Amino acid sequence: MRALARLPLDKPAFRDKYGPWAVIAGASEGTGECYARELAEMGVNLVLVSRRKPALDALGAALKAEFGIDYRAVEQDLTEDGAGLRIVAAAAGLDVGLYISNAGVGGFAGFFEDSTEAAHRLVRMNISTLIDAANGFGKGFLARGESGSGRGGIIIMASGAGLGGQPNLALYSGTKAFEIAFAESLWAEYHERGIDVIGIAAPIMRTPTLLRMVPEGFDVSDAYEPGDVAHNALAGLMAGEPLQIIPDGPGQEKQPQVEADRKARLIGFVEFNKAFTGG
Ligand SMILES: NC(=O)c1ccc[n+]([C@@H]2O[C@H](COP(=O)([O-])OP(=O)(O)OC[C@H]3O[C@@H](n4cnc5c(N)ncnc54)[C@H](OP(=O)(O)O)[C@@H]3O)[C@@H](O)[C@H]2O)c1
Repeated sequence: MRALARLPLDKPAFRDKYGPWAVIAGASEGTGECYARELAEMGVNLVLVSRRKPALDALGAALKAEFGIDYRAVEQDLTEDGAGLRIVAAAAGLDVGLYISNAGVGGFAGFFEDSTEAAHRLVRMNISTLIDAANGFGKGFLARGESGSGRGGIIIMASGAGLGGQPNLALYSGTKAFEIAFAESLWAEYHERGIDVIGIAAPIMRTPTLLRMVPEGFDVSDAYEPGDVAHNALAGLMAGEPLQIIPDGPGQEKQPQVEADRKARLIGFVEFNKAFTGG
């Protein structure tokens, strides 16, 4: 397992800012489960979303017994039309301060000429569902701050595959590029209004989804622990970062500089936009 130094995180302050409820899309195992556990440990209540309701109920009940949180388990296939709107509706009446777009996509690798309806399901999950959920929860976050300011956060689990193209992953890579640009754009629109948004260019992580996908004997010794990645995403959100690139893959030694350059460019566009709109 590859080590990742954990960033500092003020957990009571995190709960105050992004609690009392968080919604995790893709929560039943792996990285999603790691988010659920760390948030529950902080005392944040959870809306757990995925296709396997029994797994969500088992996780929610275990976290409730261990940490005394409340939970709501929502069975939803995120590749369906209208899934994002249904997640927002499923959380109606709860004071939600955090949305995490996490769902994994085992089985979507393959050469483009072989792409099927599965490609469109991937687009619906990583783009359409994300747009509707971010829009719905974002409006809620804008409304719940004090003195005209918003309060809340959005974490978008993208991938290093979204920083550039990759063979055998054209559609995955394309949708992850959307997620990165979308996260940065929302950061630029929201961060001065009390809402934090971060895109995670996630690295290879040893999750059940990954282990089901790779061929037998494939070396995953360089994979990160998903709990470390989830922890640093929460810390990066609170630190106000727009994009976290976890070193991984070819050219990884340059990735901290890429992260800094992209942030500087984004800040430049925020100022440009103020001049442009007179805002
Ligand atoms: N693992 C890696 O190496 C890696 C690398 C780079 C980026 N990422 C990104 O990191 C995120 C987490 O990936 P992961 O591999 O670690 O997965 P994960 O968090 O271990 O598990 C995937 C979760 O997504 C849910 N899910 C999958 N398809 C779904 C669907 N159609 N509708 C609703 N829920 C669905 C699964 O639950 P159900 O089966 O119950 O539906 C499960 O809870 C993803 O966005 C992935 O693209 C992962």
